[in-house]
Amino acid sequence: MVAPILDHMTALSDPTRCRMLLLLEKHELTVSELCSVLQMPQSTVSRHLKTLADDGWVTSRRDGTSRFYSMQVEDLDAAAARLWPLISEQVTSTRGAEQDERRLRGVLSRRRAKSQEFFASAAGGWDRLRGELFGDEFFLWAVLGLIDPALVVGDLGCGTGQLTEVVAPHVRRVISVDGSDDMLDAARQRLSGATNVDIRQGELEGLPIESGELDVAMLSLVLHYSPEPPRALAEVGRVVRTGGRVLVVDMLPHDREEYQQQMGHVWLGFSESQITRLLAGAGFENVRVRMLPVDPDAKGPALFAAIGVKQ
Ligand SMILES: C[S@@+](CC[C@H](N)C(=O)[O-])C[C@H]1O[C@@H](n2cnc3c(N)ncnc32)[C@H](O)[C@@H]1O
Repeated sequence: MVAPILDHMTALSDPTRCRMLLLLEKHELTVSELCSVLQMPQSTVSRHLKTLADDGWVTSRRDGTSRFYSMQVEDLDAAAARLWPLISEQVTSTRGAEQDERRLRGVLSRRRAKSQEFFASAAGGWDRLRGELFGDEFFLWAVLGLIDPALVVGDLGCGTGQLTEVVAPHVRRVISVDGSDDMLDAARQRLSGATNVDIRQGELEGLPIESGELDVAMLSLVLHYSPEPPRALAEVGRVVRTGGRVLVVDMLPHDREEYQQQMGHVWLGFSESQITRLLAGAGFENVRVRMLPVDPDAKGPALFAAIGVKQ
């Protein structure tokens, strides 16, 4: 006979199943909620749940039309109860588990939004009606009008020019730089009607921009491609005038190693302390790092926005 703990170790030999248990220890979740948090298809989640249920790690209960899964630590057998704290301690600090925790908050708040809808108070009713009438994002576009219209902004690693397109109507000029001719072709097409956009081919590490020419530099989803982030940011520091600002949007640390093969990422995200240190090293002070809200339908890692002021 195999010792029960060895059976349990087989069930927990998969990191995804351990991440599931971390979630299910704290919350009852449906399969579709687990799919959103883990960013995995239903078939994969159901298969892992079955393995965990067969080995006694999770139970489920029906609530109306939904089925909720959870792990009840007090119901685990003796071997599992001794094994779980060891596993849990190791898995909690992994990047996958940290990303799950962020997405879980989004999923739970969507649950709350549903119940809010159901118990629609005057305020809840208005939020819903406003969304139905005008969409969920119109005010984000409206507040862009608060940007100082005198600014010269750099969209560095502009890609197909999406950020440039959003910002250009609100500022004096945008200088959009990218290293890829193909991306720049798409950007030129997108921005053909804009009169205050200057599109330039060039590398982050040697920007085709005069020293101090920019009031603001934006780097959206670019820094993780730079082989030498300190060098790239030093160059950003050169082109931003004293008192100007930098905005870096990028991924928090994650464990999607496949992105390196699939999309050429060099870095698996940046932590708050890493980006703060990198920006400080490039001459930016008063760095503020904000976690961006996680869209429960998004498939990628959670993002941050870091802002610093050039010394
Ligand atoms: C993921 S895209 C992001 C595009 C855009 N900023 C956005 O948010 O949609 C990254 C872009 O950075 C460019 N890029 C990556 N490394 C670069 C470098 N060292 N110098 C210049 N451009 C670079 C790529 O060509 C690509 O267009």
